[in-house]
Amino acid sequence: MSESNNHKRILVTSALPYANGPSHIGRLTGAYIPADIYVRYQRLMKRDIVYICGSDEHGVPITIQAEKEGVKPQQLVDRYHAMILDEFTRMGISFDHYSRTSAPIHYETAQDFFLEVYEKGILKKKTQQQWYDEKAAMFLSDRYVEGTCPICQNPEARGDQCEKCGTYLDQMQLINPKSKVTGTAPVARETTHWYLPLGDFQPALEKWIGEKTHWKDNVLNYCKGWFQQKLEDRAYTRDLEWGVPVPKTDRKGNPIEGAERKVIYVWFEAVLGYISATKEWAKKIGQAERWRDYWQKEDTKLVHFIGKDNIVFHAIIFPAITIAYNQNHRKDDTYVLVSEIPACEFLNLEGAKLSTSRNYAVWVKDYLEKFPPDPLRYTLTSILPESKDSDFSWKDFQAKNNSELADILGNFINRSLTFTVKNFDNKVPAPGTFAQADLDMLSEIKQAQKETGEFIEHFRFRDACKRFMDLARAANKYFNDSEPWKKIKTDREQCATTLYVSVQIVRALAVVMLPFIPFTAERVWRMLNLPGRAEDQDWSKIAESTVESGHSLGNIEIVFTKIDDDVIQKEVDLLNATIEKKAAETAAATKAEPVKPAIPVDDFMKIDLRSATVLHAEKIKGSSKLLRLELDLGYEKRQVVSGLAKFYKPDELIGKQIILVANLKPAVIYGVESNGMVLTAGNDETLKLLMPERNIPNGLRVS
Ligand code: 2FM
Ligand code: ZN
Repeated sequence: MSESNNHKRILVTSALPYANGPSHIGRLTGAYIPADIYVRYQRLMKRDIVYICGSDEHGVPITIQAEKEGVKPQQLVDRYHAMILDEFTRMGISFDHYSRTSAPIHYETAQDFFLEVYEKGILKKKTQQQWYDEKAAMFLSDRYVEGTCPICQNPEARGDQCEKCGTYLDQMQLINPKSKVTGTAPVARETTHWYLPLGDFQPALEKWIGEKTHWKDNVLNYCKGWFQQKLEDRAYTRDLEWGVPVPKTDRKGNPIEGAERKVIYVWFEAVLGYISATKEWAKKIGQAERWRDYWQKEDTKLVHFIGKDNIVFHAIIFPAITIAYNQNHRKDDTYVLVSEIPACEFLNLEGAKLSTSRNYAVWVKDYLEKFPPDPLRYTLTSILPESKDSDFSWKDFQAKNNSELADILGNFINRSLTFTVKNFDNKVPAPGTFAQADLDMLSEIKQAQKETGEFIEHFRFRDACKRFMDLARAANKYFNDSEPWKKIKTDREQCATTLYVSVQIVRALAVVMLPFIPFTAERVWRMLNLPGRAEDQDWSKIAESTVESGHSLGNIEIVFTKIDDDVIQKEVDLLNATIEKKAAETAAATKAEPVKPAIPVDDFMKIDLRSATVLHAEKIKGSSKLLRLELDLGYEKRQVVSGLAKFYKPDELIGKQIILVANLKPAVIYGVESNGMVLTAGNDETLKLLMPERNIPNGLRVS
């Protein structure tokens, strides 16, 4: 995915996180790690680029959390704004500016947009019914009301969206609505709001998105789905105290009737936070009007990094507001539309959904107390959910740290520099004649620089990360094959050539790794004792730049420390303890299910239960719940389909013994024949397989 590169400057934004809690790795993954890689790379390419973000401080997610913590919304956002910014900084997310939507400049921007569309007569004022909590005496905006989703019957759908099926709901569609404030059933009451008639913009939006053929499928598919359903009027305002107030007068001073106690809907102002933050950045650098270059000149490439749950707001709502603003407006005060939306899918944790409310997460601040930032950046990049949901596991994190960062990258850097220091008096030796292997290795630098860069340009961060590590892989092989530890005794000149080449690779690696693992890059740069910083280098000149012979190296340190099994086990145990605690709470809260009517023992005896071993397990294409199992019953092999995918990874089932209902009539599930049913216990959250306490022969009758 990439448009033609006729842009003079790039403006990158990461979704503004709600300032209602600390960050976990899921938050980091979607919108920040890939954006930071992209930005760091573009800076190394010497492109004109600005990276903007800030805290999203309004909306019901903030007020609900403030009520929960018993503090005022402002206190809450002040605390979490500082915390989130600190976490981002310590993870090396290199914003040019991190603002907040409670900043006065943001109020001005959001109100300016409101007035522009209001004064043009684009907004429709409508009186409609909304849920009203009589006990709390308030309208229940967005997440203040929950109920059953009319589409998928999820009993916990929120007033603005059902998280389970992803539908954006009109709160009046909720079945059995319940107030989140008092727990009572709300009543329908009329209220007046301004609506943006999105349908009027559908033709323009469809035409515009129609040209974005290079966008990712996930983004295009969401948009197509929306267009098919036809865009409807969306309320621009809310009955809330906390938020950007609807202006009381228009620009000519005429009163806006009905504006009292109304705020702009958080999503209609948060996206404008990108503009306000750029304005603030421009002031900060002492060029107050510079923000206009990035927002108001057509040769800007605007890139929004977001998670998939934010697609509609960035691909439809924000462009619609912008088109509405630009309509019949002074040409020198119109805004660009987004060029790229490299939206990520979701990150799971140890095979289960991350959950803030259940505390099932790896919290960034907890992580940073135990480990350095780069191994997490590296791991998250290598598993980035670019086209489908992916999974973070502590074992995988350990493997990436130990077997890739330490054993490949760190090992190469360490042994080539240490060997040089020890055998060549701390100085880069002069090379002798280059053999083919040396020349090949040097040209691999150019190749790695080119290909890694191309992957980043195309938002293929996983491939980019792998390509950079492949340079280190090739370098390790080159070092091994060249055997400098032998050559030092037999052919000092050849040994010097190997080390000269190796130092050049270390230098190249320091720059190529920088977008991914910036802290390590700077450390390596210091070890090389080169002037300036790795981040000041020129990516396009990586291959041509050299460390001169005779240059003295700095202090050589180990760049990655291996992580022991017991350290990782502690993290896994911590997560398991969280799940178990939650399961115990759920079990305690769940009333014992009524016992089914009694049956004669003969009926029970009709069920043929057998022990079996799982020979093979795999996910069934298209289903997030089902696994196909191949079972060994001793006397025969069986295929069974079972809803285990949420609870077990296929690999961990192989070799396990289970109990099978062996005489069920075959059924076809998701197009796959199933011959039996494995026994499990638990519910949708806690399901566990029943297994014999110790191994028994396969095919044994169970009674
Ligand atoms: O989903 C969220 O966390 C939102 N706060 C993202 C807002 S992105 C943009 F609109 F500001
Ligand atoms: Zn639903």
